[in-house]
Amino acid sequence: MNIFQNTKIISITNQKGGVGKTTTAINLATALATVDKKVLVIDFDPQGNASTGLGIEQDDRIKDIYSLLFNKNNFHEAIHTTKIKNLDVIPASIDLSAAEIELSNIDDKTLKLRHLFEKNSFLAGYDYILIDCPPALGFLTLNALCASDSVMIPLQCEFFALEGVSHLMNTIQLVQQNFNKNLQIEGVLLTMYDRRNKLSELVEDDVRKCFGELVFNTVIPRNVRISEAPSHGKPVILYDLDCMGSQAYINLAAEFLNKNDLLQQVA
Ligand SMILES: Nc1ncnc2c1ncn2[C@@H]1O[C@H](COP(=O)(O)OP(=O)(O)OP(=O)(O)O)[C@@H](O)[C@H]1O
Ligand SMILES: [Mg+2]
Repeated sequence: MNIFQNTKIISITNQKGGVGKTTTAINLATALATVDKKVLVIDFDPQGNASTGLGIEQDDRIKDIYSLLFNKNNFHEAIHTTKIKNLDVIPASIDLSAAEIELSNIDDKTLKLRHLFEKNSFLAGYDYILIDCPPALGFLTLNALCASDSVMIPLQCEFFALEGVSHLMNTIQLVQQNFNKNLQIEGVLLTMYDRRNKLSELVEDDVRKCFGELVFNTVIPRNVRISEAPSHGKPVILYDLDCMGSQAYINLAAEFLNKNDLLQQVA
């Protein structure tokens, strides 16, 4: 069962590091917010990159997703507004690094986040909740998958792109079989595509052969403005709307919304 009828919860996941998970969470969320969707980003990575990229200062992260998970403050206190209308974030602080071990010692070790969502019906006021996962398939990621309606998988257009993906797919299957049978694959997203590099093209061919329809038509190019934006505490769409990176994330949001509207019509 989905937790909320009209709120889609999406984990952005790949246990490989540096493939564009956080960049995708921040910029897809921003693009959706600019077309009036109400969006919540949950920073579920102790590195706190999504919090930084959305302009949340370190000192402002005391009421974070960790304190929320372990009942140290209520949900409303953990939700921070951002400079972007319609876009809120629950930040992560370094405290979250303790969660892997703490979760492993409790009964609802994989369902803690899901239970938290279920107890907070006001979340139904969001259209989308995006969970930025850490680069690991530990308890944090399992919690995210168990609490989600779908999973989006960014793949960097590099030689090892597909390495480890079968492990991720097995994990998704395990979650579907044991905890969350409705978990869908939202799509596979090719990131950091370099037009000048033949390898990007080869990786794209491989990934499309492997995942077919599941791969988004939109491809995110390697673009220096994307990598500059987080140091200004801004999504690239606010930092430089006209650059190729911003335009790609706007196209991704359009493709995503289109797909979801079509699915809703079929349902
Ligand atoms: N399309 C892009 N073009 C250029 N640089 C990019 C692009 N996407 C991401 N980057 C940069 O690559 C680095 C890794 O991206 P990001 O942090 O989004 O990956 P991640 O998968 O969240 O990493 P981690 O696994 O550590 O959480 C960052 O410095 C980011 O700014
Ligand atoms: Mg990240």
